[in-house]
Formats: sequence, structure tokens, C-alpha cells
Amino acid sequence: MTTFREILYNQLFVSIPKPKTDFTGQTCIVTGSNTGLGKEAARQLVDYNASKVVLAVRNLERGEKARNDIVNTTKRENVLEVWELDLSSFESVKRFASRCNEHLERLDCLIGNGAINTRKHKEVEDNESMLTINVMSTFLLSILLLPLCQKTARSFEVHPRITIIASDLHALASFPERLEPDIFAALNADKSFSGMMRRYGVTKLLVVLITRELAVQMGKPDSQGVILNCANPGFCHSEITRDVPRWTRPIFWFMHKSMARSTEMGSRAHVIAAAGLTATHGEYMDNGVISKASNFVRSEEGHSTQRKVYAQLLRKLEGIEPGISQLVAGK
Ligand SMILES: NC(=O)c1ccc[n+]([C@@H]2O[C@H](COP(=O)([O-])OP(=O)(O)OC[C@H]3O[C@@H](n4cnc5c(N)ncnc54)[C@H](OP(=O)(O)O)[C@@H]3O)[C@@H](O)[C@H]2O)c1
Repeated sequence: MTTFREILYNQLFVSIPKPKTDFTGQTCIVTGSNTGLGKEAARQLVDYNASKVVLAVRNLERGEKARNDIVNTTKRENVLEVWELDLSSFESVKRFASRCNEHLERLDCLIGNGAINTRKHKEVEDNESMLTINVMSTFLLSILLLPLCQKTARSFEVHPRITIIASDLHALASFPERLEPDIFAALNADKSFSGMMRRYGVTKLLVVLITRELAVQMGKPDSQGVILNCANPGFCHSEITRDVPRWTRPIFWFMHKSMARSTEMGSRAHVIAAAGLTATHGEYMDNGVISKASNFVRSEEGHSTQRKVYAQLLRKLEGIEPGISQLVAGK
């Protein structure tokens, strides 16, 4: 769904079907899973028989609360583990990835769900906070966990999946910074109110673009490769609007009342994508099926922008973890 009319139609008249996949024997990670869509996605993974589900959260107390809640409803003990991951710290992301590499025997699915939506400009790790959390840390973690996914693929003859949560708002985001020589520097330099108003949508557009190019660089999943896709849950009940300015709250109240999907329904998008077949590699998924990303993403300019922004992201990630580019091609 890529135009405002299509997005509205989707919200009002389309439901996401229940996932049909079984996750028996699988190990899964969901980032930002103490509340909202991440928590519901984790609940479904437990319900669909995953052997281990790691709740990757920045606050362990809130993570434990979520764990207890999921155990209460699913009646499955000893499946959930709560691990610390703060996407606003690159050190925390690296520590979390090392812990996964040391302690997980396999990784079948990673759902990169954790994100923020704020209008306040704040620098985190020398970048605007939404760029750091929604984009840089999310892909830093995904790439650092690629070797474990590849090892899982080889050892168990399976297709591990990495699903990054996007949004249909990617299609409405104005993104003039794409024309600047250094896209991230241009985004960081724009601290204006209007820049921050559109920033969340821009981070979701970056997610779609980078997913597409990273999938190209990873190569097509052959009989045992890793699948990377991104998914849109649609507008849902959650805490994502907790940081929006006070004056916009009545608007969000009305939108929630009139068109928001339940958190459970939105999280089906996560789980369907995270169970994705090889055909979903590099794709944008909406309503649980492969869908068209925005016209811009699919245009010639979109293709060149995806290559440009991916190259610039990798340069940034090389500064955080030297040699990380080598992991993409499985070297
Ligand atoms: N809800 C929607 O309408 C909608 C629509 C399209 C896409 N999405 C996407 O769906 C995903 C889930 O959002 P949601 O709607 O469920 O929002 P939410 O209820 O606000 O949940 C966001 C989660 O991300 C975590 N998080 C935020 N910053 C973090 C950090 N620095 N480190 C680790 N975790 C962090 C939060 O943890 P804390 O509780 O500790 O802050 C929370 O668990 C996001 O990627 C969002 O962009 C949502």
C-alpha cells in the first residue's frame, strides 16, 4: 500500500490473517519486546511452539513483566529469556550480539522491532536518536547476527529469517536529503521542527531501502541461505505515540478510535514475515503478503538511493565495528 488512499483503505477494510507457521524447535529474538507489537509478536512465537524466545529489551524489569504476562497467557514456561539490549548504545548492541554468538546454539529468526517515534531532536551516539535506534543499531545488530544465522542454516539445513519492522509511512515521507552527498550528515544537520515531524517516516523509508540493498549484497538464499525482509503492521494500538507533542494527542486519539488495528493483529505481520519463504528475501510485506513498496522505492532513483544510503550506512557501521562489511557476504 503506497498512496494515502491505499493506506487508509488498508486500515479500514483489510485484516491481517493469522499466521499458519509452526516454530517448533526454533530460537527467536524480538527487539523492543516488553510492550506493544514486539511483545505480542513474542507471545505468538511462544504460542506457535518456538523453543526459545529472547525478549531483547532495554529495561530488564519491564522485560520480566512482559515475560510473566506471556507465560500467563501461553502457559509455556522455560521458553522466554529476557536479555538486555539498548538500541541507543552501539556498545550495548555489540555486547548483545556477542552474548548471542556465545550462548545461542542456533538463531532461526530475528525480528528488528524496537523503535521510537519522537518530535524532539536529541543526539544519541553522535546521530539524531531515531536514526541511531530505528536504523543504525537495528542494522548493526542484524549484520552482527548474520554469521550465527548462516551457521544455523548450515548446521540445521534451514532458512533463518531476519525481519525488520518498517511502516507504510515510508511511502509518505519526503526525503530531500537523498540528494545530498552525505545523507546521514544532512539528516543530522536538520534539527528543525518540520525536519523532526517527517523524521520517523524517513527512518522507515531508510529501513525499506537498506533492507532491499542488504538483501542484494547477502545474495539470494539458496537451499540454506538467510532470508531478510521487512514488514508493515499498519497503524495499531501500542505505545509508539507516547512521545508525540501534546497538541497532536487529540488527533491520535481520534485515529486510534476510528482506525487502529489491535496490537495482536498488527503483530501477525511480524510473525508472518518472520516465517517468510525465500521469495520474501529483500521484499516489503504488507498484510502478511509480499507487497509493492512506494513508487519512489521502486523507481530508478529509488534504486540508486538504496545503493547510496546502504554504502553510507556500511561506512558508518565500519566505524563502529571494523570489518563488519565482511560479514554481509558471509566471509
Ligand atoms: N504501532 C503502529 O501503529 C506502528 C505502525 C507501523 C510500524 N510500527 C513499528 O512497529 C514497531 C513496534 O512499535 P510499537 O508500535 O509496538 O511501539 P511501542 O509500543 O512504543 O514499542 C516500541 C518498543 O521498542 C522499544 N525501544 C525503544 N527504544 C529502544 C531502545 N533504545 N532500545 C531497545 N528497545 C527500545 C520500547 O522499549 P521501552 O518500552 O523500554 O521504551 C518498546 O519495547 C516499531 O518498529 C514501529 O516503528 C508501529
